[in-house]
Order: sequence, then C-alpha cells, then structure tokens
Amino acid sequence: MNEKSKQQIEEYKKIIEKHLDEYLEIKYPEKIWESMRYSVLAGGKRIRPVLTLEACKAAGGNIENAIPAACAIEMLHSQSLIHDDLPCMDNDDYRRGKLTNHKVFGESTAVLAGDALLSFAPQIILQKTPKTVQPAALIRVLEEFVYNAGAERLIGGQVVDIDSEGKQISKETLDYIHKNKTGALFKLSLRTGAILGGADEKIINALTEYAEKIGLAFQISDDILDETASLETLGKTPGKDKEAGKVTYLSFYGMEESKKRLDYICSEACDILLKNNINSDILIGIAKKINERVN
Ligand code: IPE
Ligand code: IPE
Ligand code: MG
Ligand code: MG
Ligand code: MG
Repeated sequence: MNEKSKQQIEEYKKIIEKHLDEYLEIKYPEKIWESMRYSVLAGGKRIRPVLTLEACKAAGGNIENAIPAACAIEMLHSQSLIHDDLPCMDNDDYRRGKLTNHKVFGESTAVLAGDALLSFAPQIILQKTPKTVQPAALIRVLEEFVYNAGAERLIGGQVVDIDSEGKQISKETLDYIHKNKTGALFKLSLRTGAILGGADEKIINALTEYAEKIGLAFQISDDILDETASLETLGKTPGKDKEAGKVTYLSFYGMEESKKRLDYICSEACDILLKNNINSDILIGIAKKINERVN
C-alpha cells in the first residue's frame, strides 16, 4: 500500500473515532451509555467502517454520506463482540486489550449494552445520514443492515459456531460458520459503502465478491492468530479456540494448509478488484494486509 493510502486510512479512522464519540454521548441512564462507550471506544482496528468509507469513495461517492452507516456497522460489530465474549458464549476476559464488558459492568448490563447498540445503530443511520441521500438508497442500506445482523446471517453463524463445539463437522458447516459469523459484516460493510457511493449493480456485485473473500480470509487469520499470537499483540486471550473445542479453519485443515488457503483467497480478492477495474490501492492493500496481519 502506498504512503498516501496509509495516511488516508488513518484519516478514515480519525473520522470514525470522532463520530462514534459524538453519537454515543452519555444520556440517562448513564450506566448503559457508559457500558456501550466502553466497548465501542476501546480501540479496535476499525477495518469494517474503513471498508465502508473506501467502498463509497471507490464507487465515486462522497464519504460524508457513508459516515453514519460506517459507524453503525462498527457499533453492530462491537455488539457482536460484547455478546460473543459472554460466559454463555465464548467466555472471554479480554477484548481490545481491556477487560471484557461483562467483567467490568456485569452480565446483565453487558447483555443490555449489546441490545442497545443493535437498536441504536440503525437509528444513527436514519437520523444522521445526510438528507441529500435518496430515500431508496437509505432503505436499501437499512435492509442490508438488519438482514446481515440477523438469524439468516451473523446470528446464524454464531449459533452454528457454538453448536459445533467439540463436534466433527462437514466442510459445508465450517463454510457456513465463517461466511456468516464473520463474512456477513464484511459484506455489509462493502455493500453499504457501494450503495451510498452510488455504485451500479456490477460494482456492488464485484465488491460483494471481494467482501466474501476477505471476510473468509479475515476469519482464517483470526483462527491462526488464536494459536500463534500473544495476549499483548492480540488484545484478547489466545488459545481459546482449542480450549473450547471450537471447529476452526486450523482444526479442520491444519496450519500449513490454512496459511496456503489464506494466501490464495487474498490474491483472489485482489483479482476481483482488478478484473472489475476497481482502482483502490486501499482495498487491494487491505486484502494483502489480512494475509500478514498480526492482531
Ligand atoms: C474480531 O474482529 C472478531 C472476528 C470476526 C474475528 P476484529 O479482529 O476486527 O476485532 P477488532 O474490531 O479489531 O477488535
Ligand atoms: C467472532 O468470532 C464472530 C463474531 C463476534 C460475530 P470469534 O469468536 O472467533 O471472535 P474472537 O476470536 O472472539 O474475536
Ligand atoms: Mg465466537
Ligand atoms: Mg470469540
Ligand atoms: Mg477467534
């Protein structure tokens, strides 16, 4: 990725942090907003909202139109992590280098903070998206949002992930888990940016295909890092997948094959962009970076 693109990503992140902070202003009852802020503003790589803003730009749009939706997607992602970490789910103590939400606020508030983020996010899209955005585009974005957050996508993936613990599952089931628990939000991120950027269907479809590839690659690298990285670099406890008997890319294919597949899928993602004349150094760079990620 060239220097200009790296700077542009930093600029996107600043915009996202600033708006998340503004949107999540503390109201009554303070405890719930503090709990929501604790997890959303805890850092995180912000890869999904960066993808939304860049997809909007790559489609020729104005990123101002996509800022509220990009932040909403990060809220949805944070919600999924708060719930994913609960004792009844993956039972994790650390997230983004800090104690998990339930460890600080207690389980009941953590559950409610997740619920609250899930309903606040589409509210932000509706209230804050510039009025110049066509209502049809806004409705489409909301439909994408609620669909990908729900039982047909993200939740479906999480259910099968939990149900598969300690079991032998088929390749199809493994693919279902990855496509949905992680892939759904990558697809949502890119499609949302493309729609708000005014992309035509060909470009929306191309970015969807790209999202499918990098979403899968992202979860493969997450599974690899669970085995290879430290708490310090990862910001979450490593070794948890094995301990919980999770079926992951690694438990299914082993380390070497997983790395090979990761490399190949990242190059496929880049090819999709090139084939469709999507000239985004950032999107190409992100696909390459997933292959080399350390946290
Ligand atoms: C973690 O996502 C959950 C997965 C889908 C693997 P990230 O690795 O993007 O987490 P943050 O947002 O940077 O904390
Ligand atoms: C997370 O998958 C997917 C969602 C939160 C939807 P993981 O359970 O592998 O994510 P980490 O490793 O806890 O971040
Ligand atoms: Mg999980
Ligand atoms: Mg987890
Ligand atoms: Mg993981």
